[in-house]
Amino acid sequence: MTDSLTIRRPDDWHLHLRDGAMLKAVLPETARHFARAIVMPNLVPPVVTGAQAGAYRDRIMAALPDGMQFEPLMTLYLTEDTDPDDVAAAAASGLVKAVKLYPAGATTNSASGVSDFRKVIPVLERMAQIGLPLCTHGEVTTPEVDIFDREAVFIETVLDPLRREIPELRVVMEHITTSDAADYVRSAGAGLGATITTHHLVINRNHILVGGIKPHYYCLPVAKRATHQQALRKAATSGDPRFFLGTDSAPHVDAAKETGCGCAGCFTATNTMAILAHVFEEEGALDKLEGFASLNGPAFYRLPVNPGKLTLKRATTDYPAKIESDDGPVTVFDPGFTPAWHVAEVSAD
Ligand code: NCD
Ligand code: ZN
Repeated sequence: MTDSLTIRRPDDWHLHLRDGAMLKAVLPETARHFARAIVMPNLVPPVVTGAQAGAYRDRIMAALPDGMQFEPLMTLYLTEDTDPDDVAAAAASGLVKAVKLYPAGATTNSASGVSDFRKVIPVLERMAQIGLPLCTHGEVTTPEVDIFDREAVFIETVLDPLRREIPELRVVMEHITTSDAADYVRSAGAGLGATITTHHLVINRNHILVGGIKPHYYCLPVAKRATHQQALRKAATSGDPRFFLGTDSAPHVDAAKETGCGCAGCFTATNTMAILAHVFEEEGALDKLEGFASLNGPAFYRLPVNPGKLTLKRATTDYPAKIESDDGPVTVFDPGFTPAWHVAEVSAD
């Protein structure tokens, strides 16, 4: 039995850093372990233009504590008014690494998202030409569709037709939650990837609902039944390079979660790597953790792997139950077990 595991320093291919006091509080939680992260643009108002992405990047770098090394990979929030030239310029400058599609109303701060997919075809065609990936929040928002079916219906009615229309478009299905999504990824070529969160490997919908409602397990896409959770564990630990880590760590202050209409989002930045090591070991796949967390993402995004290393050791450690911010406390995701591993060492180069 191995007690130490050293991997390339990981990246987070789907992260919410927020802004202001929350950004200041949560950024070190990610930067401590992760070298880079694809930063979600769903601020209020959203990050729509290259200029806004540049300004947000500057605010992130200003909030980074001295001595920490971290590179934010910026994204643009796709709207029906997005200008293809602005997207192309932001990508050419190296600032922007992806464009994010939120169907209007799908999740937290998605009111400016896309309702009429015809309107964004010119942007998507340009992205296909320049090789800029589209990150999708893959849920339909039609009220008739059951919330547990929204991902599968999105694949069938939105994603698959879109990919047939623009086959060169590179797409990341983000935070997949179903066996349908994992199967769809496997059925496609190298131009389709998927991120999987930490929490969707750990919880299924029983964890949210049985024995009382657990607001800190509520996120979108909502966790599905256990068979889907098993399918995600299989995909993440399979070694298939099309699956990689995107934590979707999404902080909300406790007051916004523990209320009559609680926000969606699990905050996992603090203990993600320890939880993942525990889960991968349970699946007999510790040797696949580096691919999932550190190699497959850069390969998809056509970026170099990180020079640094991260060492996990077999030992339990106490992660804080909450992170304090000037906006209020943020509860750290509770996996329901004490991870058998902890991050012992991280090097930047
Ligand atoms: C995210 C957030 O809070 O911004 N919430 C979540 O449940 N994942 C938005 C998102 O990625 O859907
Ligand atoms: Zn997200």
